[in-house]
Amino acid sequence: MRQHTGMVAALLLALGVNQLAAQGPGPKKNREAVPASSQRSPRERSSIDGDWRFEKDDPPGNAYNLLYDVRPATRERGDDGPADAQPKAGEAVTAPARAVIKQWILPTGNPFIKDPARRFARPAGDRVGDVAYSRPDFDDSSWRRVDLPHDWAIEGPFMTTGPTGGMGRLPSAGVGWYRKKLNIPATDAGKSIFLDVDGAMSYATVWLNGHIVGGWPYGYSSWRVDLTPYVVPGGVNQLAIRLDNPPSSSRWYPGGGIYRNVWLTKTQPLHVGQWGTYVTTPQVSPSSARIDLKATIDNDSRKPATVTVATWIYALDAQGRKLGDVVATIEPVEAAVAAGASATVQGSVTLAKPRLWGPPPSQKPNRYVAVTTVSSEGRLTDSYETRFGIRELRFAPDSGFYVNGERIQLEGVNNHHDLGALGAAFNYRAAQRQLEMLREMGCNAIRMSHNPPAPELLALTDSMGFMVMDEAFDVWVRGKTALDFHLIFPDWHEQDLRAMVRRDRNSPSIFLWSTGNEVGEQYTGEEGAALAKQLGDIVRGEDPTRPTTTAMNWAKPDMPLPVAVDVISLNYQGEGIRQDPEFAGTDRIRTPPQYPAFHEKFPGKVILSSESASAFSSRGVYLFPVAKEISSPVRDGRGGDSKIHQVSAYELHAVDFGSSADKVFGSLDRHPYVAGEFVWTGWDYLGEPTPYYTSRSSYSGIIDLAGFRKDRFYLYQAHWRPDLPMAHILPHWTWPERVGQVTPVHVFTSGDEGELFLDGKSLGRKTKGPYEYRLRWDSVVYQPGTLEVVTYRKGVKWATDRVKTAQPPARLEALPDRSVIRADGRDLSFVTVRVTDRNGLLAPRANNRIVFKIRGPGEIVATDNGDPTSFEPFQAPEHKAFNGLCLVIVRAKAGQAGRIGLTASSEGLRDASTFITAASAGGH
Ligand code: GAL
Repeated sequence: MRQHTGMVAALLLALGVNQLAAQGPGPKKNREAVPASSQRSPRERSSIDGDWRFEKDDPPGNAYNLLYDVRPATRERGDDGPADAQPKAGEAVTAPARAVIKQWILPTGNPFIKDPARRFARPAGDRVGDVAYSRPDFDDSSWRRVDLPHDWAIEGPFMTTGPTGGMGRLPSAGVGWYRKKLNIPATDAGKSIFLDVDGAMSYATVWLNGHIVGGWPYGYSSWRVDLTPYVVPGGVNQLAIRLDNPPSSSRWYPGGGIYRNVWLTKTQPLHVGQWGTYVTTPQVSPSSARIDLKATIDNDSRKPATVTVATWIYALDAQGRKLGDVVATIEPVEAAVAAGASATVQGSVTLAKPRLWGPPPSQKPNRYVAVTTVSSEGRLTDSYETRFGIRELRFAPDSGFYVNGERIQLEGVNNHHDLGALGAAFNYRAAQRQLEMLREMGCNAIRMSHNPPAPELLALTDSMGFMVMDEAFDVWVRGKTALDFHLIFPDWHEQDLRAMVRRDRNSPSIFLWSTGNEVGEQYTGEEGAALAKQLGDIVRGEDPTRPTTTAMNWAKPDMPLPVAVDVISLNYQGEGIRQDPEFAGTDRIRTPPQYPAFHEKFPGKVILSSESASAFSSRGVYLFPVAKEISSPVRDGRGGDSKIHQVSAYELHAVDFGSSADKVFGSLDRHPYVAGEFVWTGWDYLGEPTPYYTSRSSYSGIIDLAGFRKDRFYLYQAHWRPDLPMAHILPHWTWPERVGQVTPVHVFTSGDEGELFLDGKSLGRKTKGPYEYRLRWDSVVYQPGTLEVVTYRKGVKWATDRVKTAQPPARLEALPDRSVIRADGRDLSFVTVRVTDRNGLLAPRANNRIVFKIRGPGEIVATDNGDPTSFEPFQAPEHKAFNGLCLVIVRAKAGQAGRIGLTASSEGLRDASTFITAASAGGH
């Protein structure tokens, strides 16, 4: 490790830190003085999520055309096309050319365009789009008051008919306006002032005080506009943001609105640029690690400057707080920055005995923070924090993926961005809950399908130690829906890709960049491969330390596309697609198992399964007869029921091109060089309700939309946490109409053997054979009573489970996931309400309507039951149970500590009450 040097001392002196501090912020204890890295930063970054005004649609009679660009007239109606349909060439624009505003939006992306010749010039004039809602004097007092993050579509109502299942049957399409008054004090004169938007769905245009500032079309990117030229310090400044979500623009529910956090950033003119630091750790061992840091310094002033840039590194604790003293310093570097330009400086330091970042349970996600200070003429002008982790990733084509020398099997899931009943509106606690439940299952990796996530989600994966595949796009030039991203791909792909990588590249959880999912360019030979290479080059240009990939469901080893990627990511192809004889002669993708062919053709590339399974089930629904196979498509009488639109939770069924979990485990165990899998999906999501497009939400989640575990949860847990003694029996055992009928019993266990008993009578002992992942007793004849399984591992008793026949529903039970939450207006308690019999046993088929009442400083944000066919509004303070369970999400009001009382009642059942304490917010 480099000790602080005379230069650091000199800098500290220059910064006015007293003589004692000249001994520097080194690792020694008992220093009295404050290092420059701990001085109050001249940078201010404040949340401006609170108190916006919102209105749907443009002003009536609006004469000005605010369209980003002409859109093709689309005749596309249905949205239930198979997920693996071949993407189409974009429709030609048929509308007559009209005035559009993209010339004012495109320049916002200039910092992300490498070739200066490709950058966009801003047209003259900034009163463009001078529509009433953009003007400072417009009276918005009648508009609805909202706090961000906000999703205008989640309140519904559901469109119960028509071709809208793909996008979740919710009104996400259309225009929405957001306005907010910003108080900019006179003391801000001379500062640079930026609006930082983590995500807005979609085609955002920003005005300040009536002047068009810029915008960003792609709804999943984070972006910044520079408000400085339009700010009037010393008073109220009116911000207006217009969003315009096209219909037919997504294969899943996109949400609508400013659905992520928004920040106001104020800096001195000499400051670290947007996402302006890049930390890499090119040499890592248990004894030492080299830390390289690049920092880009912007000079927004009109005069050239000389800056000194220094960096102090601290360890962080598990909560992300600085842990003790500085552990390393990067020597100050001087640089000249021309007026209105940027300069990049770099430095490095070697840290002894680094605390490495790695995925639990075998490793710990230790993190560090680099505090970079910028000073000029003896004045501190910026101080900027970069969180990072030190870890060594290795990709070994013959044996998979390694973190810090340990082979890590990727036991991952895909997740979309929505948070169920909360919609697309990002909520930290809801995202944390998703990850906590996945962790409990043994999941160690997430694929951000198919777009960059909220930045806080990556902060969570960093602090919890998940491996992440960060993904940019679902389409490139060829579209999947009429008005999706393909329309703007030619103009925006570089900006969106660079924005993703620059924002996320310091995140230790990211191990792989994906430029696309099942893109149509798989079908366009060399041309598609050239584009894949071009996108990969953009990513490598921003971050040469990680490989890139593109998920392929069709491209084969002898095609050009896989040549262009660093890692082979296969969707479903590893297990083989539509190999059952019933698919012979159909025109959809059919593929024999592909792992060996890819491995042979690309001996230098790691292979992983970027999408596996796409298995379907509805929690708590069991349909008979039960398939004998280990994996089967869904048909009526074969795992499915097209009258009730539910899929059996025996967990044997998958989309036509997919495979059950058991089949995927078998294929991965047979091909140990494959680095692992990302299951489609961890959680159910809104939209894409294959196989029943009349529904609102998916069937593919291991966990349902409300957050209740399907039986599959335990199948994965048994396989992914082999050392956790567990056993899980399915189905439930309350079948009054099945007395005397064959009712198969399956057990998911981390044991290798089990004996099943019905009312104490043995139904036989079963052992898992090679490549078998469940124990099944397929000829059990139903009679009410108690089923019990005793499982064994290597002959020793391991775990048990028990299921009893329930009596009729008699009472309710309310169980909050957390009974103390912060009174910050954001924190949530997820309360599970169970319908039970008089003995407290779950009534597994109960669908009673439950009414919720809340008292004290809390509010009900949403209710749900996880039923994909339900069109009950998520906001209603009442909801039907689905197979015995219902969810109510409670939020504490901001700044109001106290006791929140929640009561659940239902006709004919005994009420349940619970209390949640809202504690005064000492935030994270
Ligand atoms: C895949 C696709 C996913 C999802 C999934 C559903 O082909 O990549 O986005 O559509 O199918 O089964």
